Amino acid sequence: MTKITAAITAVGKYLPEYALTNKELETMVDTNDEWITSRTGIKERRILKGEGKGTSFMAIKAAEDLLKKSNINPEEIDMVIVATATPDMPVASTAAYTASKIGAINAFSYDLQAACSSFLYGMSTASRYIESGRYKKVLLIGADKMSSIINYTDRATCIIFGDGAGAALFEPNNDGLGLQDEYLRSDGIGREFLKIEAGGSILPTSEDTLKNGQHFVHQEGKSVFKYAVSNMADVSEKMLTRNNLTKEDIQWLVPHQANKRIIEATANRVGLEDDKVMMNIHKYGNTTSATLPLLLNDYEKELKKGDNLIFAAFGGGFTWGAIYLKWAYNS
Ligand code: UT7
Repeated sequence: MTKITAAITAVGKYLPEYALTNKELETMVDTNDEWITSRTGIKERRILKGEGKGTSFMAIKAAEDLLKKSNINPEEIDMVIVATATPDMPVASTAAYTASKIGAINAFSYDLQAACSSFLYGMSTASRYIESGRYKKVLLIGADKMSSIINYTDRATCIIFGDGAGAALFEPNNDGLGLQDEYLRSDGIGREFLKIEAGGSILPTSEDTLKNGQHFVHQEGKSVFKYAVSNMADVSEKMLTRNNLTKEDIQWLVPHQANKRIIEATANRVGLEDDKVMMNIHKYGNTTSATLPLLLNDYEKELKKGDNLIFAAFGGGFTWGAIYLKWAYNS
């Protein structure tokens, strides 16, 4: 019997209309376009405006885009995973709501939280369900409304993050296409450097935590940067060596979009030129769980069946890893 592999067979996306530019940020905090561009590569990021709109608003739109493009009946979907660090609510699954709203009435669903590695880890999870042979259509959505947890008076974080959502459908493949290998890691040492201190079980929200701004993301950028550079490069290199791949065998690096300098360091380590490195950080900033599927959407037309892709991500926790996947379709 041929081994079942898990292939991505369709993608979709949603980006809010409002673009928060570096110029506008200059009016909000003590920063400037030159600093942001040279230190991060970001020019603008999208922000979801409008009362009552949470992460599910974008997750639903991204899923609907995928369904429309691929002509798939949502009733055929077996499972919906929403990878997110910003669920609609702390309790009540964002994925369950998303699945119902898109008409995936035969699916079960849950949220997956691994900070900026959520989508990467979700690719692993979705693939295991497909490879088991029990599930035929798993919809993985990466969506984050980062603007809901960012302090727009903190220049260390507000220049980096943006809102967005991307979706990918995983289906069984009998020709060896799809996910080939993965190396996923985590290290709890990281929670000191990138966190939201309050609002969880250690420090429930109180008047004091609100006053101290502890419900916002706090990041020690320099420390996270150091870990991100070495770990993302290490795991990407590992994917190549342990699969006997040379840089010539790789068509695309699909790196988490946290900082252009981290992406370039990863690409350098595996010897890939710019034209093989997916990049859209200048347009969207760091959208956390949405960076990888947004890249797939932006580059979909350039992807060819059989292309070798190396995904890599690093995020809070710490969480990180790399995945080697063979692309399964021409669009
Ligand atoms: O996706 C999840 C994982 N997260 C990451 O991978 C993020 C990793 N970290 C980073 O990308 C970078 O550390 C940042 C972009 C967050 C910061 O860049 P940096 O080159 O590490 O800057 P820094 O924090 O070391 O600050 C350098 C200088 C400081 O001034 P002094 O002390 O040298 O006078 C900061 O106060 O830049 C100053 N600075 C700013 N200046 C203008 C910090 N933020 C800003 C700002 N505008 N927004």
